[in-house]
Amino acid sequence: WTLTTKPTGRQTYWATMETEKKTAAEQMTSSDLSEQIKEVTRESHVRAESTEMMLSFQRGQVSLAQYKLLLCSLYEIYRALEGEMDRNCNHPGVAPIYFPTELARLESIEKDLEFFYGHAWREKIVVPAATKRYCHRLRQIGQENPEFLLAHAYTRYLGDLSGGQVLGRIAQKSMGLKSNEGLSFFTFPGVSSPNRFKQLYRSRMNSVEFTEEQRSGVLEEAVRSFELNIQVFDDLHKLLSVTGNQQQNNSTPSKPLTTVQIP
Ligand code: HEM
Repeated sequence: WTLTTKPTGRQTYWATMETEKKTAAEQMTSSDLSEQIKEVTRESHVRAESTEMMLSFQRGQVSLAQYKLLLCSLYEIYRALEGEMDRNCNHPGVAPIYFPTELARLESIEKDLEFFYGHAWREKIVVPAATKRYCHRLRQIGQENPEFLLAHAYTRYLGDLSGGQVLGRIAQKSMGLKSNEGLSFFTFPGVSSPNRFKQLYRSRMNSVEFTEEQRSGVLEEAVRSFELNIQVFDDLHKLLSVTGNQQQNNSTPSKPLTTVQIP
């Protein structure tokens, strides 16, 4: 619509233009948070799927080095997320979507890390700067706006129960692992039907009573959550390219990996 003069008798033009001016979030037809959150993060999901890290998964080219490094970051992320969810489990924005028995990932990741790195795995954890930023944000909102944890829990857990299930099978094949060895992260023994569980999760999300301000904050945080994940994948990819080259050149990294700063 390009109108240079204000229509007089045709008010519908104005009405249409006003609608066109509205943001994607404002234009959404459904009032369900589950629909809105999916809508506002649609484009971010496409970008997350298209990161080099996720493309390697989809092509069945995930290497052991890649997967081990990803697990280290997931360990830190879930340690922060689940720590904050546990601490805020009685908060009205958290309680309805608090499903530690069904969803908690931390122990599974620890099992996988032990499988890949051995007993001393804690000393071998390597995380890039983006992972630290993500964890910092999780702890910050846990302190200041616990209702925003819903956005992060949605992004991680519903992702793990959706595309994550396919990625687990691909990872197993690409790394030639025996069934489920080192792949507990992808297995949800407490969820017999991921689709039915996702339905329950969505209805719980929709039951939370948010003010308009809180709701738009949660939607914004969901986009941020995807962005933080994308930055982690990109950082891991860069870290792997650096360490890959260093291994090829048979040289020692000039800095410890945990301090690698990626712009
Ligand atoms: C949903 C694929 C990466 C978060 C889904 C669905 C598929 C999928 C098929 C189900 C869509 C539906 O039921 O309508 C993939 C693939 C990925 C990938 C192939 C990468 C190779 C990611 C990442 C994240 C993520 C990296 C977040 C960090 C989500 C979320 C949902 C979802 C939150 C639930 C959407 C909803 O129903 O509201 N994904 N995904 N995905 N994915 Fe992904």
